[in-house]
Amino acid sequence: MIDFKREIAKILSQRIEELTKDEIIEMIEIPPNSQMGDFAFPCFKLAKIFRKAPNMIAQEIAEDIKENDLFEKVENVAAYVNFFIDKVTFAKSVIGEVLTKKDTFGSSNIGEGKKVIVEFSSPNIAKPFHIGHIRSTVIGNSIYKLYDFLGYDTITINHLGDYGTQFGKLIVAYKNWGDEKEVEENPIPTLLKLYIRFHEEAEKNPELEDEGRMWFKKLEDGDEEAKRLWQWFREVSLKEFNRVYNMLNISFDSYAGESFYSDKMPRVLKMMEEKNMLKKSKGADIVDLEEYGMPPALIRKSDGSTLYITRDITAAIYRKEHYDFYKNIYVVASQQNLHFQQWFKVVELMGYEWAKDCIHVPFGLVSLEEGTMSTRKGRVVFLEDVLKKAVEKTKEIIGEKNANLENIDETAKQVGIGAVVFQELSNNRIKDYTFSWDRTLNFDGETGPYVQYTHARACSVLRKAQVTIDENVDYGLLSNEDAMDLVRLIQMFPATVEEAARKYEPSIVTRYIVDVAQAFNRFYHNSPIIVEDKELQKARLALVYAAKQTIKNGLGLLGIAAPERM
Ligand code: ARG
Repeated sequence: MIDFKREIAKILSQRIEELTKDEIIEMIEIPPNSQMGDFAFPCFKLAKIFRKAPNMIAQEIAEDIKENDLFEKVENVAAYVNFFIDKVTFAKSVIGEVLTKKDTFGSSNIGEGKKVIVEFSSPNIAKPFHIGHIRSTVIGNSIYKLYDFLGYDTITINHLGDYGTQFGKLIVAYKNWGDEKEVEENPIPTLLKLYIRFHEEAEKNPELEDEGRMWFKKLEDGDEEAKRLWQWFREVSLKEFNRVYNMLNISFDSYAGESFYSDKMPRVLKMMEEKNMLKKSKGADIVDLEEYGMPPALIRKSDGSTLYITRDITAAIYRKEHYDFYKNIYVVASQQNLHFQQWFKVVELMGYEWAKDCIHVPFGLVSLEEGTMSTRKGRVVFLEDVLKKAVEKTKEIIGEKNANLENIDETAKQVGIGAVVFQELSNNRIKDYTFSWDRTLNFDGETGPYVQYTHARACSVLRKAQVTIDENVDYGLLSNEDAMDLVRLIQMFPATVEEAARKYEPSIVTRYIVDVAQAFNRFYHNSPIIVEDKELQKARLALVYAAKQTIKNGLGLLGIAAPERM
């Protein structure tokens, strides 16, 4: 694809020697509407260099360039030089690129040779995988896909919460009131019940707390029984988590959770001691962070046991040594902001310059709309139930609209789950929001089903036309405004992917594909595609193909399927 910005920069840099090509590229804007051109170059900053009014400069540049194959018009309006790209060259360049690259349209190799770790999801063993976890899971998965698409060498890690004193408590609860069969059959709700019971009983009998601590100590010391039970809790929990990951089509390169670092912490504690970083405080070891405006980081309790933060520090050092990452990304709720700031600082104070390459990508809270959610047991909402319900509801809706659809079950799965994921990725990640079924399953608004339906509609047009789309197209026939708007949008896909990755913000892609779907539907309504004139039909079909492919690639980056019929 011709990089028009770069071409413009090349032309301009011949006339403005005082600025580098990259500086010029930075300054080039995309005007809010196409009457003002496809690209615009503001001249305000040049006033100082040329000692002239910006309007004058713009006028001179515009007049000077005028003659050029790439542009049908270059003109100035006030202090802007507006570039109107030659429509044929533009359409040919953009659509041609999609036709050759297909599934890789929008990808690049800017990340070649750079390793990026994306840690996401990371639920806690024996605890429900609830609606709150969906955010980390789908945002993280999309960030991974974005970096992968840009050619980075990616590693996905599920930092399972599988260690800590709560497992001592759970062992005690199971030994007292547990039933093996019940745990096997319905692991997480049963383990959760045992955990709740432990706390109820411990109110009456505080000795249980000591017992819990003792069993965790046993686990840390490698006691056989403690290890066997813990291992079993972990296994049955993972089996349940994996059901959800399978529904979402997500897998991880590593499931090294907190327990993985248990034997790696002593070395890290020793390093901190040697660097004189630890201070005693009521028998515990802390790193004082007052100087940096933060409360102290508690690294080791007075009984010698380690903490969540100790494991995070150890994990980061392990990851650097094991993977030698370029970036180490953590997709974790904003409630943990302080936690991450604290331990990033501790790693920095240990002298690791790569502390700056550890990145916390926070996201806001999800709350549930009053009365929307039925729950299986108690107050917790299980993610699996949310996904299942979305699929059921979708099946009903599809059944009403298109009862003869083959594969209705598979499609309902793709659309129902896609709807939940799309909704999750619609807003800026940092924003808190309320989950609503109506919004999620509306097929008409700016939703997943709407975008998927647009894609399926494009597929259907291409199927019916029964012609092979190749690059042998008379692009001059695509000159109407709707067509050009769509081409302009498609052209922005590669830059959109880069921006979304750079900002760790999948919603940029979500909003972009809604724009593409809307532009496609405008074009489709106003320009009949199956027409007498075979050349015109072919040109329009090529554009339909390019839009379809762009939507499909965009959905893929969000972790959403693009069914061809629905
Ligand atoms: N297990 C934690 C939770 O559910 C999230 C872990 C986040 N990752 C990390 N490296 N601390 O809250």
